[in-house]
This record gives sequence, C-alpha cells and structure tokens, in this order.
Amino acid sequence: MSVTKKVLVAGASGYLGRYAVKEFKERGYQVRALVRNPDKFKTAGSHGEPAVHDLADEIVVGDVTSPESIRDVCKGVDIVFCALGLTAPDAHHSSYDVDYLGNKRILEQAVAERVSRFIYVSVFNEDKMPDILTIKAHELFVAELKNSGLSWAVIRPNGYFSDMGRFFSMAQSGHIFMVGEGEKKINPIHGADLAKVCVDAVKGESREIPVGGPDIYTFKETMELAFHACGKTPWITELPLWLAEGGLMVTGLFNRNLADLLSFAIEALKFDHVAPAYGSRHLKDFFAELSSRKH
Ligand SMILES: NC(=O)c1ccc[n+]([C@@H]2O[C@H](COP(=O)([O-])OP(=O)(O)OC[C@H]3O[C@@H](n4cnc5c(N)ncnc54)[C@H](OP(=O)(O)O)[C@@H]3O)[C@@H](O)[C@H]2O)c1
Repeated sequence: MSVTKKVLVAGASGYLGRYAVKEFKERGYQVRALVRNPDKFKTAGSHGEPAVHDLADEIVVGDVTSPESIRDVCKGVDIVFCALGLTAPDAHHSSYDVDYLGNKRILEQAVAERVSRFIYVSVFNEDKMPDILTIKAHELFVAELKNSGLSWAVIRPNGYFSDMGRFFSMAQSGHIFMVGEGEKKINPIHGADLAKVCVDAVKGESREIPVGGPDIYTFKETMELAFHACGKTPWITELPLWLAEGGLMVTGLFNRNLADLLSFAIEALKFDHVAPAYGSRHLKDFFAELSSRKH
C-alpha cells in the first residue's frame, strides 16, 4: 500500500507556486502551502495562474523574514518545494534577506525534519550573471542546499510566461522601449509546464535541471508577438545599453532594491537564454489568452 506523501510548497501564492500546488495535488500528494496572505490565492492570478486555496490540505501563513511566523513549517513533511523569492521591489527587504536568508530558514527546518527531498527553484544562466545580487542570493542558497546532506534538486528555469506578460502590458499601452537591439534569444516556459518538471524532480538523484519552453524567439520577436496579440502595430524604440545602465546607476542612488531587480532584467538582455526545451504551451497562445481576458 503506498503512503500519501506530504509536500510543503513555499511561495504557493506565486505564479509558479500555484501551478506547483495544482500539479502536486493531481499526482496525489498532500500539500501544505506557505503563504503570506491566504486571500491572495483564492482568486486566479493576473497571468491566468489558478486559484488554489481550496486545493491545499493545510495553509501556513508566514513570512520568511520573520522566523517566528514559520516555526515548524516543515514539521511532518516528506518533501519541500521552494518557489519563494523576491521578484518585486520591497522597501524593507533585499534578495539576500528573502532568497538567501529566508529560504535558509526553511532549509534548516527541513534538515532537522530529515525530509527526503528538497527541490529549489533558482535561475537559468546563473553562471553568466554572477554579480547580479538576486542571482548571488539564489546561488548562496543553492550552495547551502548542496551542503545540507539532504537529497536535492535545483530547477534552473528560463523566463516564465508571466515575465513575458510585461511585454504584453507595455504593448497594450501602444509602445515599448527595448534595451539594446533585442536580437538575443529566449525560450520562455508556461508555469503549468514548468510545474510538471518540478514535480518530476521529486524522484531521482541530486541534480540541476535547466529548463525552457518549446519555442525560441528573439526578445524583439516576443515584443512583436505581444503587439499582434493585442491587435496593435508594433512600435518599439531601441534604448542604447549605455543609457539604460546610466539610468540604473541613478535609480540605485534612490532605490537599491529596485536597481537590483532592474539590473537583472538589463543584464539578461545581453546574451541568449536557450535552455533544454520542455512543455507544450506556446507563448503566442498565452498572449492571446491575456488579450481575450482584457476585452
Ligand atoms: N519569473 C521568472 O521569469 C523567473 C525565472 C527564473 C526563476 N525565477 C524564480 O522562480 C521563483 C518563483 O518565481 P515567480 O515568478 O513564481 O515569483 P512570484 O510570482 O513573485 O512568487 C513569489 C512567491 O514568493 C512569496 N514570497 C516573497 N517574499 C516572501 C516572504 N518574505 N515570505 C514568504 N513568502 C514570500 C510570494 O508571496 P506573495 O504572493 O505574498 O508575494 C509568492 O508566493 C523565484 O525565486 C524567482 O526568482 C523566476
């Protein structure tokens, strides 16, 4: 008789986290969801990610920057899946506080609980952007995980469709400023396809798993797709890299956290991001769905 395994999904209210809750449930796991605000995942997200509040077997309300609020979060779980991260500017906390220290607090509990597998979501092409603070924080955590003695998997995804949604929002406004010439390539991935890769990673040896979606586009082509989806003629203005980086330096004087996140976005435009392809969902269809929901 097989025993139902319990998984902690940290970051369960996020774009990937919601698809992971759904995928784990569909594969028969019991899910404990760690969220800051349980109301948030009662409704679908802005990029079509599902409402999963009612799928979770247990909900823990906690903030990883406040150790007391996540005490015992791993108690009784077999597997930890961590898609928790700082993806928007926060006036009070840095990537180091959340991506490194916050995830480390969960890891310490997972070690004490001797969980059978810890799956962590970092980023693809991390070795090409070692000085970006978000990447540094993720990779500091990855080093801790590898030294933890636990069985682990590190998922290294390319950009998510939700991230490409930024191009869609800009296209809706009628105009996009593009940093550089936009000729570098990327194969972004849908959250549902990525969640399958993440749940598959429960089984097997400790390993790193780079992953992207089925279609490769240049950044400029993704912008053009977004314009077509909202029925607008592409209007894209190139912003020289030096100008964007100058703007970044000025931003850094006023808002360090915002500058860190922007530096990631700008750095990422400098080279190709083509990861091993997985999944069946297409960016074109994703933009079409966003467009139909906005009308
Ligand atoms: N987006 C991409 O293109 C991309 C690409 C590669 C890797 N990644 C990585 O994948 C992970 C998930 O990305 P995503 O796009 O799904 O992010 P997301 O939608 O912003 O979700 C992040 C999750 O982390 C939670 N969180 C943030 N700070 C927290 C805190 N202090 N305490 C507890 N929970 C906290 C958020 O909670 P709230 O809902 O309360 O904010 C949310 O559930 C991140 O680590 C990201 O760096 C993202």
